Parts: sequence; structure tokens; C-alpha cells
Amino acid sequence: MDKNKLSQIVSLCRRRGFIFGGSEIYGGLSSIWDYGPLGARIKKKIKDIWWDKYVTRREDIVGLDSAIIMHRDVFVASGHLEGFADYLVECPNCKKRFRIDKIDKISDGRYLCPECKADINITDNKPKKFNLMLKTNVSASEDNPQEAYLRPETAQGIFANFANVVNVTHKKLPFGIAQIGKAFRNEVTTGNFIFRMKEFDQMEIEYFVKPSDADKLYELWVSDRYSFYTDTLGIKSNNLRKRRHSQDELAHYARACTDIEYNFPFGWSELEGIANRTDYDLRRHAQVSKRDLTYFDEDTKTRYFPYVIEPSSGVDRTFFALICDAYTEENVRGKKRVVLKLKPDISPYQAAVFPLLKNNSGLVELARKVFYGVKNEVSSLYDDTAAIGKLYRRQDEIGTPFCITVDVDSLSDKKVTLRQRDTMVQERIAIDSILGAIKDKLKTIKTS
Ligand code: GAP
Repeated sequence: MDKNKLSQIVSLCRRRGFIFGGSEIYGGLSSIWDYGPLGARIKKKIKDIWWDKYVTRREDIVGLDSAIIMHRDVFVASGHLEGFADYLVECPNCKKRFRIDKIDKISDGRYLCPECKADINITDNKPKKFNLMLKTNVSASEDNPQEAYLRPETAQGIFANFANVVNVTHKKLPFGIAQIGKAFRNEVTTGNFIFRMKEFDQMEIEYFVKPSDADKLYELWVSDRYSFYTDTLGIKSNNLRKRRHSQDELAHYARACTDIEYNFPFGWSELEGIANRTDYDLRRHAQVSKRDLTYFDEDTKTRYFPYVIEPSSGVDRTFFALICDAYTEENVRGKKRVVLKLKPDISPYQAAVFPLLKNNSGLVELARKVFYGVKNEVSSLYDDTAAIGKLYRRQDEIGTPFCITVDVDSLSDKKVTLRQRDTMVQERIAIDSILGAIKDKLKTIKTS
């Protein structure tokens, strides 16, 4: 584990306003995080890019926005109520609880408490099942509560609406239903910053296919989703890998599953799972709801449950991987320079405009004019709250690809200095041409 890199990234995210602790002013909540102004921008871009690629531009995939709170029976059908659980053991000494599969075994039936190093004998301290779903009450009466659950995956909202969507869209197989939204899990294993959160966002597609096409389409989705991270988001391919699940690792509903993993500072970990879920979910929902959830195939004039290929990815883990991948430390004239080498369309801003001197009203006025001239076409910010060196450092740290500085000469020669984030190369460009120059460079810029 590269603890140093992880702590540098956590500190950068906090310092620059990407991520804050959830409910921080009240002492915080474990594994619950808020996105600050810059984090919210990147998170929205990730979701927009995904939605644009899979919903807006594809004829065979439609979008959905289903409710977070779902009926208890949804999770009876999906198997979450029975099986979505961790086994926890309590240390007899410090009374803390741990996942039995995550602590060190001393010998048969004996485990080492990771907190106080006491011996945990599981004959005396039997591991208890702990369901990871968050329960709520949707009745107005305390005496007559109606139990409901916050969904632990967006997928179940898609399965529950399968017949509704088919009836209104008349889609033919293969077709997909896509959804971006919150999911909730009362995770026991915490730490590693935003890797495992109790509230997080998923981007999921349930791609319904003829059973005989499932194996082929599963392979296509694995390679499509891998290239989303490399080509669309610009993540380095040497930090990504595909890992196929072995038979004994597969979830009960899956016939095959491949994880796309990222090399986080704490090691290779899952960014996305692509699974062949067979017809398990539709079959189970049909059984429990007693509704007909089969698909009528007009070619063969038969009814059957389609299979489903599910690319399921996490917005927060994608965000985390993007920051880790872009985080760069350089030595510039004996000083450390921290740069986020994000692809320009992922960076929170594409350009920043500064006056060289904030007390010179002529420069401030011209800098604001330049800012207003670019900001509607290139997402930009104006800053005059520090000296120029500090302003550049701030923008490097948040990944802004271009800085425009208005100096005293600008008042007479009507030119500004354009500085590139990655190369730090500076050039003088006429104010009239600055917008066009940035737009041209944005098309060709490469992140290294
Ligand atoms: N519908 C399938 C499903 O939910 P999963 O592997 O449990 O499968 C899919 O989750 C993705 O959701 C993961 O690859 C990860 O990116 C994200 N994810 C899952 N649990 C998470 C958590 N506690 N915190 C942040 N992201 C999480």
C-alpha cells in the first residue's frame, strides 16, 4: 500500500474542496462523504459522459430514474433480504465487531482481534449475520410501521420496471435499461477514503438479451466498458486490469462476472463488475410479484425470460480512480509541484483567468473582460485572491489545463499570457484570439 500517496490525495481533496466528511460539523459519520464544489463538478461530468454515451447516443438503451425507497418484497425476490449479509464476530475484550473473513485466523476456531490483539474464540463468540441493507419506515404511524428499504443497487428498480418499460417502448431484444442513482449499504469494512461508502452512486445498465446471445454479448460489454475507462476517461491502461471471477467466487445469480480493477494506492480493487445475471432476477420477481415478466419474441412467437448482461459501475470509485491516476508530483526548480493531469473534459474548469496585480483596477477590469469573453464557451473561473505563483499552483492542483494572465503590457499590446498546465509553457496571445486558441488546444491536448 502506498500510504503516502493515499494521504496526499486525501489531503488534496480536502484542501481544494473536492470531498468533505459527511455531517462533519457534528463529528461526522463513518464512510459517509460529501462532494465539495470541485468534486461535484467532476462527479456530474462522469455521470453526464456515461449517460451521453449509453443513453443519449444509443438507440438500443433507454434511461430510467426509479425510486430509492423500495418495497420489502423487491428484496425478498432479489435475495438481498436473505443473503446480502456479512458475518460479524465480536471481540470479547474490546467489544468491537469485525467481518470474520477479514481478520487473521490463529488456528481452527480462533481469530486475532485486529484492534486489541485479543484472542477471539468463535465457539464462545459465534459470528452473527448482519444484513447490509438500510431499513426505513414508510408509514406515518409508529404503531403500524410499513417496512421498506433503501435500495442497495439501482438494478432492482430496473427489474421491477421491466414490464412497464417494454410496454411503453416496444423495444426488441437486445435492449438495455440504464440508470444512474444512489445506492445504500451499511458497510462494515471502512477506510481507504471514498472506496467503500454507505451512500454512493451507481451507473448501471441491465442489457436484456436472448439467452443464446448472452455469452457473446457479455464479452462485448467487458471490452466496451474497459475502453470507457481508457479511451473515454483517459485512465492509464497500466493501472487497469480485467479480472474474471472463478466459479466459486460468482454471486448466486451470475453465470459469469468480470471485474474491471484499478490499481489504487492500497492495491488492485474493483471499479466495476460486468455480470451475466442470466434470467435469475426476472424469474424471481415474476414468482414473488405474481406478474408476467416474460418477453414475447415476435420472431419465434414464444414467451421467455430474457437473460441480462449487467455492467455495473460506481461513480465514486470512478472519481477516486480518476484523481489517483491524474495525481502527479514533479520537482520544479527544487520545489514540489502537484498537478492533476486530468483530461480537460473531466477537469472541474478548463481555464482560469487572473490579473497579475489585484490592486491595479485597469488590470482587474481587463481580466474580468477576458473572463466574460471565454466563460460561456470554455468553463472558466476568475481568481485574484493570491499572488500569481500561488494562483498557478492552485490551478495545477485542481487540474485546470489553461491559465490566462493579464499583465501591465496587456493594457497596451492587447495580449495575454496563456500557460499550459502540463508543460508550463507560456505564450503571448492576442485577447481577440484567446478563445479560439484555447478551443483549438483543447482538441489536441494529451494528458501524460
Ligand atoms: N448490481 C450489481 C452490483 O451492485 P456490486 O459489485 O456490488 O454489483 C457495483 O457493485 C459497483 O458499485 C462496484 O463495482 C463499485 O464501483 C460500486 N460500489 C459497490 N459498493 C460500493 C460502496 N460501498 N461504495 C462505493 N461504491 C460501491
